[in-house]
Amino acid sequence: MSPMCMYSAVEGLPNDWHYIHYTSRAIGGVGLIIQEATAVTPEGRISYADLGIWSDAHTEKYKAIVSTIRKYDCVPGIQLAHAGRKASCEVSWNKGWQIPEGPDSWQTVAPSPLPFHERDMIPHELTVAEIKEIVSAFRQAAQRALDAGYQLIEIHAAHGYLINEFYSPLSNQRTDAYGGSFDNRIRFLLEVIDAVNEVWPETLPLFVRISATDWMGTEGWDTEDSVALARILKTKGVDLVDCSTAANTRHATIPVGPDYQVPFADAVRNQAGIMSGAVGLITTAEQAEAILQEQKADLIFMGRALLRDPYFALHAATALGAEVSWHKQYERAKG
Ligand SMILES: Cc1cc2nc3c(=O)[nH]c(=O)nc-3n(C[C@H](O)[C@H](O)[C@H](O)COP(=O)(O)O)c2cc1C
Repeated sequence: MSPMCMYSAVEGLPNDWHYIHYTSRAIGGVGLIIQEATAVTPEGRISYADLGIWSDAHTEKYKAIVSTIRKYDCVPGIQLAHAGRKASCEVSWNKGWQIPEGPDSWQTVAPSPLPFHERDMIPHELTVAEIKEIVSAFRQAAQRALDAGYQLIEIHAAHGYLINEFYSPLSNQRTDAYGGSFDNRIRFLLEVIDAVNEVWPETLPLFVRISATDWMGTEGWDTEDSVALARILKTKGVDLVDCSTAANTRHATIPVGPDYQVPFADAVRNQAGIMSGAVGLITTAEQAEAILQEQKADLIFMGRALLRDPYFALHAATALGAEVSWHKQYERAKG
């Protein structure tokens, strides 16, 4: 299950909605759930209703969700995130625009003082000391994730949020060690990975979700950059690169359609030699299985199909003629 924000938390804490939502998918046969973008600091939330993991109270609250997911033979993963210049927004069903002032608004931060949208506030340009504090917040969040019982971490480095803002030349105009060359722009991501690895055991998987292209040609980040980055991530102990795209600029033209992001998972997997995940408009079991059989990706992330149907995995097994065990309580309903 692909990470999907529910915008239903208060003070970053999960509640009944999150418990029911995630454990339903576990009972529905999903193999791995990656919990929605979970902010490493309060300012790292996209909206006031995002989940967070910046205190011990958060750690405690996740334990019930995590232990139930594990009880029903599913792997609980968590996506650790910082929204950067795209923070301080309304929830998606209230249009999702940035909130300029008031109790649900806060100063956003970014590599450079460039807003995502012209109506957004100018983000504060992070100092090196502030960058180090955010790196440290990722380390602490990883420790808390481990303490809560999560078995997989995905670092959110996609969709125009803070890490993506650093590595894409469209949003990074720094002239220090974190801007300019490719090596400088990926530095923040690599420091986050090193910090997470300090506390996250080698035996547990570490994924990184990237926006594999800005869809802006040579002006932006593109496939060759993603392959070059993936080769480096492999040396850093990253197990899988989850290949999404876009959302760091409003000016891209994107050919959205079935499988449209699969070529990026294919390039990363087969040119960089690291496991990749494919995501985006993969909606049927046959479609997902074909991507795996054609060796274009090692793992399929399902998003909205799992919002429509928490039992998608059981239906997919039937569609593909695969024998999977159903929970005993539901066995009388099987085929
Ligand atoms: C409601 C919703 C919330 C989302 N939140 C996140 C998120 O927290 N982190 C993330 O990386 N992607 C997020 N996404 C993107 C999905 O993970 C996925 O990449 C996207 O929906 C495309 O896959 P799909 O066509 O299977 O839905 C979200 C998508 C939706 C629909």
